[in-house]
Amino acid sequence: MKSRAILGLLADGQVHSGESLAASLGISRTAIWKQIRRAMDEGFRIETIRGRGYRLLTEVDLLDADRVIQGLDAHRRSVVDLTVLDEVDSTNAEIVRRRREVAAGTVPVCIADCQTAGRGRRGRQWQSPRGQNLYLSLGLTFQGSFAMLDGLSLVLGVALAEALEHQGLAGVGLKWPNDIFLGGSKLSGILVELQGELEEGVVQVVAGIGLNVHMKDGAGVDQSWSSLAMAAPERSWRRSDLAASVINSLLGATDEFAEDGFGSFRARWQSRDIFSGKSLVATQGELSGIGRGIDESGNYLIEGGNERVRVRAGEISLRVQQ
Ligand code: BTN
Repeated sequence: MKSRAILGLLADGQVHSGESLAASLGISRTAIWKQIRRAMDEGFRIETIRGRGYRLLTEVDLLDADRVIQGLDAHRRSVVDLTVLDEVDSTNAEIVRRRREVAAGTVPVCIADCQTAGRGRRGRQWQSPRGQNLYLSLGLTFQGSFAMLDGLSLVLGVALAEALEHQGLAGVGLKWPNDIFLGGSKLSGILVELQGELEEGVVQVVAGIGLNVHMKDGAGVDQSWSSLAMAAPERSWRRSDLAASVINSLLGATDEFAEDGFGSFRARWQSRDIFSGKSLVATQGELSGIGRGIDESGNYLIEGGNERVRVRAGEISLRVQQ
């Protein structure tokens, strides 16, 4: 977004004179006028008030790296290596590229204003319109084996749900293994990608979060979806604050998972299970039955007749039978 600097100054919705804008950016008033025109060409509505200046009429929620850092728990600020980008193919791909440059012990985090090739689970695309939603990825390192990934996937779902509840959102549900649902529609998805084994027993993963924030027009989204703006329009959601809250919660939860395993997450996941007691069918295969929550490792339990079948994350998708 070329007009980012001027929008940053106008984002408060107040009237700003050409002179004060020029002084703030260290450029001429003619250059300010050009920037105003460019912002209008990019689709932002800006009112010109004769003799007074300019006022932004479109609501903008710019990503602000300083605000994200300020929102982090104090003891995490030095651990997080944050990159905020205007545009990227995929924040998950960016973490893979950056990982080599990041000091050991730090967690690379990337947030982008838009993604040109956002990816979802099962090879799907993740629609990533500019300025609308949160696209955030973290590079995580664990001592252990690949077997821990099933549990991790659910842990991230719990952490994301708890972050949203911490922000005051009620009714957050989890659809196994880790989709975040609100009122029967998908609000957020998590893509966990294995980056590889650094050395024997040290596993690197990239966790990517897509959270619908301001989106009201989901052109190209192929499933029932919601956004924070649609679910709670009375709130003024800021992506930078949400990002900080999500990072805090995810890092807290993954530390706990690395220390103590999946144990405490089972009940936290189960209490938000949207499949519990519902008649389910697997999208591939013959399996169907009643949803009975997860076992101690995060496998989903389906009861049919007298038996309970365990379904492993990554093997199968479940949906409610119509
Ligand atoms: C899903 O299909 O539910 C997972 C969606 C994950 C989307 C996020 S957006 C940030 C990160 N970068 C990507 O390319 N994908 C994830």
